Amino acid sequence: MGTHRRGVRILLIGDPSVGKTSLILSLVSEEFPERVPARAEEITIPPDVTPEKVPTHIVDYSEREQNMDDLRLEINRADVICIVYSVEEEDTLDRVTGYWLPLVRSTLGAQHSTPIILVGNKVDLVDYSTMEIVLQTMMEYPELETCVECSARTLKNISEMFYYAQKAVLHPTAPLYVLEERD
Ligand code: GTP
Ligand code: MG
Repeated sequence: MGTHRRGVRILLIGDPSVGKTSLILSLVSEEFPERVPARAEEITIPPDVTPEKVPTHIVDYSEREQNMDDLRLEINRADVICIVYSVEEEDTLDRVTGYWLPLVRSTLGAQHSTPIILVGNKVDLVDYSTMEIVLQTMMEYPELETCVECSARTLKNISEMFYYAQKAVLHPTAPLYVLEERD
């Protein structure tokens, strides 16, 4: 892998208003954008400024501009998927297991090898953590590579989030497939 890769394609999905577009634009501008479009333009980060030195494409999704076919197409094209929820809105976390993880499985097949990162955004608004629930979810869904709580507003863990996504593709920590036995 690594040096032969043309780049890492990171897709952000999740319920409306959880902050997907804000996360992307915060990363790029290193400040919180007060107003954001429904969907960010696809962004390419040149290899020399990424921690893993690979070109990185960041792809936004918005239900306001895209339909189910668009969504499934992007899920198929992604090397890694960030499912974003808002730590401030419990429903959006319930929908991770109730909707988004099943959608990815139904699109890619239950045995798919696309790593997924769970991203809890808006930690600036709360004084609790969702990690306990999320760690439980991680045990139930092996495709979940890691999880992170962050804030597009304060920039907390924003660069980490995109680094984890790159790393999940380039250096997966769990076996993503099982080698067939041969004799
Ligand atoms: P859709 O495109 O409709 O799917 O929404 P989205 O997930 O792209 O959310 P968006 O980035 O448009 O943000 C929704 C609202 O949440 C906006 O008012 C943002 O300013 C706000 N927001 C986003 N991230 C944060 C955050 O980390 N903290 C706080 N306090 N507000 C945030
Ligand atoms: Mg958006």
